[in-house]
Amino acid sequence: MSEAPRKILVTSALPYVNGLPHMGHMVEYIQTDIWVRFQKLRGHTCLYVCAADAHGTPIMLKARELGITPEELTATNSKEFVSAFEDFGVDMDNFHTTHSPENEALTVEMFEALREAGDIYTKTIEQAYDEQEGMFLPDRFVRGTCPFCKTPDQYGDACENCSKTYTPADLIDPVSVVSGTTPVLRESEHYFFRLGNYEERLRKWMGASRLDRNAVAKLEEWFEAGLQDWDISRDAPYFGFRIPGTEDKYFYVWLDAPVGYPASFRNLCDRRDDLDFDEYWRPGSDTEVYHFFGMDIMYFLMLFWPAVLEGSGFRTPRSVFAHGFLTVNGLMMSTSRGTVIKARTYLDNLDPS
Ligand code: 2FM
Ligand code: ZN
Repeated sequence: MSEAPRKILVTSALPYVNGLPHMGHMVEYIQTDIWVRFQKLRGHTCLYVCAADAHGTPIMLKARELGITPEELTATNSKEFVSAFEDFGVDMDNFHTTHSPENEALTVEMFEALREAGDIYTKTIEQAYDEQEGMFLPDRFVRGTCPFCKTPDQYGDACENCSKTYTPADLIDPVSVVSGTTPVLRESEHYFFRLGNYEERLRKWMGASRLDRNAVAKLEEWFEAGLQDWDISRDAPYFGFRIPGTEDKYFYVWLDAPVGYPASFRNLCDRRDDLDFDEYWRPGSDTEVYHFFGMDIMYFLMLFWPAVLEGSGFRTPRSVFAHGFLTVNGLMMSTSRGTVIKARTYLDNLDPS
């Protein structure tokens, strides 16, 4: 018996456009595309949107290194993603960018709603600071010797040898990756989101969203450990959206990245008379939103994102699908390990159809 036609919106994770598309990326877009095509074959309306994840320190620094603007860098790399989608037959309805007016308006709207609800507060924290470059350093931009196993040249957040986690201040002989100088600790006021207030609402969402049992187990593990409030701001210089009412504070890239889903959809709605943004993203209708993404970002897509949506009066996804990775010699295919097969290399040598 055939079911009544449904209205479905599907997304894939937004790729960082500091690099080019590789086969690890394509695995996700192809599986999402297969699912979307299947829903269409069943007679449902199924839309598929995505966008370039364009903000953050790595993109800002990479553009600086190349002597171009972050806008130029992200526009050039985004074109490579779009042409890879076309050549692999991935049929998206829209590929937008997080550095867009739609994304800024929605991010600010969500932030203001959360602030109104009492879920945003400020706190002064200490962070590694590069005095030569005049910038605060993300954990991954500080390297040094692991305080536990003494392996040299480790990132500031975790050791690749012994897997222990720590902060850059714990490293022995820390060095800024940007300038090669020794960072100092400096205080700065940051904005925090009270994720700790959301356990009950997230449990309700988890119960209603028919998640895969591995995803449920992961969420239970996080609830058990206790939900930590989330630092959603970064200091200038930063490539992103400035926080309203501040001179030098920006939204952390991970706050506005998933907002790229509704923002890409809004951009599509503006070009299509048959689509209504509110029907998919505001409470009170029975359309369905699904997100596909890799297991490495479950914490963001299964805790922060549904909590932000819920707390700011938007609709939460009907369900989410977290997948594993394409591996090389048992390890995730990754640019930093130098193990990627670029999408273009595949296309130059093999027929994707
Ligand atoms: O992990 C990544 O590649 C991120 N750029 C994914 C963002 S997905 C979503 F939240 F927008
Ligand atoms: Zn170690």
